[in-house]
Amino acid sequence: MAKETKISMAIIRRLPRYHRYLGELLNSGVTRISSQELSKKMGVTASQIRQDLNSFGGFGQQGYGYNVKDLYDAITKILGLEKTYNSIIVGAGNLGQAIANYTGFQSWGFKLKALFDVNPKLIGLKIRDVEILDVDLLEDFVSKNPIDIAILTIPKERAQEIVDRLVAKGVKAFWNFSAVDVNVPDDVIVESVHLSDSLFTISYRLNEDELFKKIKEK
Ligand code: NAI
Repeated sequence: MAKETKISMAIIRRLPRYHRYLGELLNSGVTRISSQELSKKMGVTASQIRQDLNSFGGFGQQGYGYNVKDLYDAITKILGLEKTYNSIIVGAGNLGQAIANYTGFQSWGFKLKALFDVNPKLIGLKIRDVEILDVDLLEDFVSKNPIDIAILTIPKERAQEIVDRLVAKGVKAFWNFSAVDVNVPDDVIVESVHLSDSLFTISYRLNEDELFKKIKEK
């Protein structure tokens, strides 16, 4: 079983959104916001925001609301975004290259150290100055360059093997796009991403009216 969290994942999953909204407010010059205003902007109740923030000691004052910069800085720290993280991508195909090409992660402190692949046509190429290496060099590279996060964009049949190899070398966190659940020891973090979950909510919403019309007719 992967590593458990001390507070609920539902709260943790809301934090990046708070962070994003507060960052936007800060950029547009807003210095102070009431919990009601923040809740209206975010589509979350004010009490939900208060409860979430209370899990980390609480912020804001009765009658004053939140100081946007202070809250933004606090959530930045809570999310561990004041540190830097070394990462690698395993699988330098369409998705691996797309992630490597996106500069945003780098600016948040997630440094890409190398990509790995089995395809000789890709090995030796560079994506934004980061080299694609032969996956045979994986263990050697990770021994010499401590890696915090491995990003998995390989075919799902290969994912467990790569995870086992990296766990054996001490890698403690995986951002898994490989559409398969991987087994890891208790002290290892796996965050699996399924873009289709988000896409399928669109197809649901496109069909919701029709669905409820049918349910009513029954
Ligand atoms: P792709 O075929 O373009 O890239 C996969 C790459 O992995 C290839 O370059 C291949 O040579 C390499 N590879 C194969 N075995 C390997 C190994 N043992 N070690 C290192 N590299 C290896 O595929 P694409 O489109 O980039 O998708 C990659 C994975 O991501 C697939 O599993 C796909 O199902 C998944 N995916 C997941 C999404 C999500 O939302 N989670 C969205 C899109 C794709």
